[in-house]
Amino acid sequence: MGNAVVYYSWTGNTEAAALEISDAAVKLCEEKQRGSFIGSACSALAGRRSKLRPFSLPDGTDGIFLGTPVWASHCTPAVNAFIEKTDFTGKKVFLFFTLASREAPEKLVSSMKCRIEKKGGSVCGCVSFQTKKGGDTGCRDLRGRARQWAESLSL
Ligand SMILES: Cc1cc2nc3c(=O)[nH]c(=O)nc-3n(C[C@H](O)[C@H](O)[C@H](O)COP(=O)(O)O)c2cc1C
Repeated sequence: MGNAVVYYSWTGNTEAAALEISDAAVKLCEEKQRGSFIGSACSALAGRRSKLRPFSLPDGTDGIFLGTPVWASHCTPAVNAFIEKTDFTGKKVFLFFTLASREAPEKLVSSMKCRIEKKGGSVCGCVSFQTKKGGDTGCRDLRGRARQWAESLSL
C-alpha cells in the first residue's frame, strides 16, 4: 500500500511541484508533441483527452496525488485521459494545480472531483499553486509550497 504521484506538465511548473512531493513521480507523456498555446487551450476547453504513452502505477497504490496545470480554466487533455483510464475504486486522491492566476480553480476542482468520485475514488484534498509566467521550474518558492502541502497531509 502506498501513494503515487502522477502529473502532466508542459512547461515544467507542475513537474517541479510533483518532484518535490516524490522523486518517483509518474509523468504523463502525450504521444503527439504539443503545438500552439491556442490549440492547447481549445483542446482543454473542449474537454479532449490526449493519447498517452504507456505508463503504470506501482502495485498496491491506494493514494494518488494528481497534478495538472490549469488550461483555459479547465483540466489538461493528458489528465482527462488519465482520469478516463484509471480505476479509482477505493483510492484516495489529492489534487494539485499550478496556474497563473491567484484565484483557486474552484469549478475545475468540482468537475474533477465529480469525475473521480464517479469512478470510485474519493478526493481528500486539493491545493493550487500560483506560478510565474514563462516558467517557474527553478522556483524555490513553488517547491517549498509543494513540499509543505505534502508534509501537512502527514500520509
Ligand atoms: C494553453 C494554456 C492555457 C492556460 N490557461 C490558464 C488559465 O486559464 N488560468 C490560469 O491561471 N493559468 C493558465 N495558464 C498558465 C498555466 O496554468 C501555468 O503557467 C502552469 O503553471 C503551467 O504548468 P506547467 O509548467 O506544468 O505546464 C495556461 C497555460 C497554457 C499553456
